Amino acid sequence: MIKITRARFLKHSALGFGAALLLAACGGEEPAATSDDSAASDPATAETASGDTWTVGTEPAFPPFESQDADGELEGFDIDIMRAIGEQAGAEVEFSSLPFDGLIPALQNGSVDAAISAMTITEERAQTVDFSRPYFKAGLAIAVEEENTEIQSFEDLQNKRIAVQLGTTGAEEATKIEGAEISQFDSAPLALQELANGNVDAVINDAPVTLDAINSGNISGLKVVGELLTEEYYGIALPQGSENVEAVNAALGEIIENGTYAEIYQKWFGSEPSGELPESVDAAL
Ligand code: ARG
Repeated sequence: MIKITRARFLKHSALGFGAALLLAACGGEEPAATSDDSAASDPATAETASGDTWTVGTEPAFPPFESQDADGELEGFDIDIMRAIGEQAGAEVEFSSLPFDGLIPALQNGSVDAAISAMTITEERAQTVDFSRPYFKAGLAIAVEEENTEIQSFEDLQNKRIAVQLGTTGAEEATKIEGAEISQFDSAPLALQELANGNVDAVINDAPVTLDAINSGNISGLKVVGELLTEEYYGIALPQGSENVEAVNAALGEIIENGTYAEIYQKWFGSEPSGELPESVDAAL
């Protein structure tokens, strides 16, 4: 909660400041307090009107896609990709931290212009928001405690205690397990910690994130078992009918073409991007 409040406050004050600068630049005298207020009370309008600042929502506890460094600065594959897209499209990108299950509502009510959050393109979500072309291929993995020999596949999860992140495809997948007792957490690291603490039997989460948590030593005593449960593509989500969909797609295509994407991929995954990404949202569904 504190994080959200702080993010909103920062956003509003940044806008107030922007509005003040704009007035000053237009030769207005003292920036009037009232214009600050109106910008603060209607951030969505103020942003879209300015045209070239995109407020981009993200849930920043999902390394290596999005996380906060020691100084609280956002970093990660998604963060770099979004910045590169903004640069390519000539738009300023400002991030806003939100709970994962708050991202789609924020797109719908216009408080953000886009969301990048390792968000899987799904049929259901595509009915409420627009997605960019896919920018990453992932899948869900099962994690268990290192010494667990009982759970080796999806079938073995029946009647088990499963932890997931609220509002994710992992949470959705868990509902398909018969007799499972599901605990939902606000972030994936919290779900993984619950497993490491021995309070649940397994976690269903995006494979690259679970593997990163294990390999980086952020969490210890866990392993991934079995095959990936799904094949999923991440997309940047935008409000339905957003005029920016084309610009985002064009910029994404351009950074894939010109090698910027591969550079960012190398930085966060230590390897070349594997395989081609489909060019259309439909191909990802
Ligand atoms: N890919 C999964 C989904 O779209 C999980 C994404 C969670 N992202 C995050 N930043 N917490 O449901």
